[in-house]
Amino acid sequence: MKILAIESSCDETSASVLDNTQVLSNVISSQIFHGKYGGVVPELASRAHNQIISQVTLESLEKANTTIDEITAIAVTTEPGLIGSLIVGSNFAKGLAIKYNLPIVPINHIEGHLFSGCIEDPEIEFPFITLVVSGGHTVLFYVESYNKYSILGLTKDDAAGEAFDKTAKLLGLTYPGGPLIDKFAKLGNPAKYDFPRYMMHSPDYNFSFSGLKTSVRYYVQKTYPNGIPEEDIPDICASVQAAIVDVLVFKAIKAAKEYKVKHIVIAGGVSANSGLRIKLADAAEKIGKKMVAPNMSLCMDNAAMIGFLAQKRIEEKGLDSFKNLNFTVNSTALRAKR
Ligand code: KG4
Ligand code: ZN
Repeated sequence: MKILAIESSCDETSASVLDNTQVLSNVISSQIFHGKYGGVVPELASRAHNQIISQVTLESLEKANTTIDEITAIAVTTEPGLIGSLIVGSNFAKGLAIKYNLPIVPINHIEGHLFSGCIEDPEIEFPFITLVVSGGHTVLFYVESYNKYSILGLTKDDAAGEAFDKTAKLLGLTYPGGPLIDKFAKLGNPAKYDFPRYMMHSPDYNFSFSGLKTSVRYYVQKTYPNGIPEEDIPDICASVQAAIVDVLVFKAIKAAKEYKVKHIVIAGGVSANSGLRIKLADAAEKIGKKMVAPNMSLCMDNAAMIGFLAQKRIEEKGLDSFKNLNFTVNSTALRAKR
């Protein structure tokens, strides 16, 4: 069975073709132009999706050496995300479904990230812990099966990616700042500045990152009233990254121990962070567990993870359950339990 998956919840337009759970293509077009505005502009994002979605879809079919007539079902992200962006993907999928008489499987974007570790690593064993860290979410999940999971904790304010992006902005770095902080951090000393690790030792699995940004702002204003000298940027980046990564690693490891899982999966854009990958893999190994970090194209926003989960939903419920095209999109949905 071949699935055509569409993802357009934020600023990536993506289409993927899967043959059962095997990814044949995963085309991702990133809207890099938002950089000049310092963040994603929702109206511009939906217009850009609209312009490119047909092309991205055709390319994904071509790369998969597949024609639309060979497709059995369409998968599309319907929640959560920017409403205009979700509407573009969902309406495009509905158009194709009507024209080619195909069922549509509506997929929750965060659930897509949640299971992205299973795409390339079929050995991964339930139950496991997944840490979804992106520009919009920081959530720690306990995952028992493809249709049973619970949220152990989430951020009370900024997401981890937001913390990276906002502190990067304070340092004069362009959006998205996460990859730049990562790059400079490799050249700096993470112990140089002791930025706070908020909620690291709180009894729950929640996070808070907005205070870090404030600490960095005060520090920069006090220390560098005339601007930050270039040579100090690597140490500040390394110290900021360490403050964010330490909290993420601490809580993920704590959850892995308490829930006695073998695997800790990381997903979402921030899971590209080299500091997080190294520290979490190390900490997991020390307690006899394994970190699973999907390939970058499966970590960032992408349609392959949407198609993969759609395949699992079809296996569970059957194709006939997805003939109703009367679904809507939802900007905020994040299910606490499934
Ligand atoms: O999952 P994603 O592509 O989009 C959503 O937010 O859903 O994540 C984007 C976020 C941005 O905040 C970006 O700065 C962050 O992921 N990011 C990183 C790195 N690469 C991307 N943060 C830290 N280090 C990185 N290498
Ligand atoms: Zn995402």
